[in-house]
Amino acid sequence: MSARIRVAVLGATGAVGQRFVQRLHRHPWFEIAALTASDRSEGKPYAQAVSWVIEGEIPAEVASLTLVSTDPAAVQQVAPDVRIVFSALPNEIASEAEPAFARAGMTVFSNASYYRMAPDVPLVIPEVNPEHLRLLEYQRQARGWSGGIVCNTNCTVSGPAMVLRPLQDQFGVRRVFAFSMQAASGAGYPGVSSLDLIDNIIPFIKNEEEKLEAEARKLLGRFDGQRIAEAALDLSAHCNRVPVLDGHMVALSVETERPITPEDAARVLRDFRCSQVAELPTAPAQPIVVRDEPNRPQPRRDRMSGEGMSVVVGRVRPEPLFGEHGVKMMTLAHNTIRGAAGGSILNAELALKMGLVTDISFNLF
Ligand SMILES: NC(=O)c1ccc[n+]([C@@H]2O[C@H](COP(=O)([O-])OP(=O)(O)OC[C@H]3O[C@@H](n4cnc5c(N)ncnc54)[C@H](OP(=O)(O)O)[C@@H]3O)[C@@H](O)[C@H]2O)c1
Repeated sequence: MSARIRVAVLGATGAVGQRFVQRLHRHPWFEIAALTASDRSEGKPYAQAVSWVIEGEIPAEVASLTLVSTDPAAVQQVAPDVRIVFSALPNEIASEAEPAFARAGMTVFSNASYYRMAPDVPLVIPEVNPEHLRLLEYQRQARGWSGGIVCNTNCTVSGPAMVLRPLQDQFGVRRVFAFSMQAASGAGYPGVSSLDLIDNIIPFIKNEEEKLEAEARKLLGRFDGQRIAEAALDLSAHCNRVPVLDGHMVALSVETERPITPEDAARVLRDFRCSQVAELPTAPAQPIVVRDEPNRPQPRRDRMSGEGMSVVVGRVRPEPLFGEHGVKMMTLAHNTIRGAAGGSILNAELALKMGLVTDISFNLF
């Protein structure tokens, strides 16, 4: 491919926005053409407005870009050719801004939760439910938009959903118990006050348990061409904030329809691949990395596995509560990469491959 596809990032100065900037500036298909934030930051050079908290430097070619208003006309004024928009907006702002961009002909790949459970909005992890992306065609018809909205999941769901996909396919999943230990960056920037979080664990994250339970059922559901029938799966979640910088751990106990052993489960997870994503530029070679050491995964050591895009699993062992129909394990996913910016970028790569982005049809392969 000769020229790269010009894209915009909405909410570019936040925790997820920074990950978008970091990962897009070296992406083989995409090039950052516009960045937006709130009116507090509008008109300032990116480097001046952002409090850069992630590793590495602000990419030089982005540092001097002037932030524009989170408004389709403002983005089109600086970059009229943009058709792909990545959104890292707070939920309440996304509720109005994202449809405005979709109406203006742009396909929005969103991290906000506002539209995740809307019946005509695809909620996608490419390796888990790539076919759900086709719901975008129905959404465009139903809403009269030339663009559209595609959501990725809540960051805490990304690890468990990746693991449940192959377990459901091979053994049938009946019930799941999930206990999360979620990193500080999951609350955005500046997020939870240090005086609340250091030397502490906070056993409450607003709406998180509900999101984990509902989104997992939609992700693992079946798409019939117009709607998604949610998976019949009982899931119970406990969510906690812990003093870790990046990387959400979720302990899972899984009850299956058919008998399962830890060895079977580990093999199926290790062998899991999705042919639709295999050749996409940021898809990890191994979506699920299974560690055999008794004390892994650990956030600090394992969160960058597969450049932050692999889900790391360890301690796969029997679940005595479910007898021969159960296993338990620990999962780890990088919340601002696989659970946010990296997940959105992979969704956009898949949408391009499937010919689902308005006005972009050139051959990338
Ligand atoms: N953090 C995670 O791990 C994670 C994971 C998955 C999904 N998400 C979701 O992703 C979204 C972004 O999260 P985050 O953690 O990056 O939040 P954040 O750190 O608080 O960043 C919010 C961004 O939105 C901008 N913004 C705030 N108010 C605005 C307004 N009125 N108009 C336009 N822009 C506005 C901010 O710009 P200023 O700098 O100008 O204020 C900033 O760029 C949220 O919906 C969140 O739920 C987060």
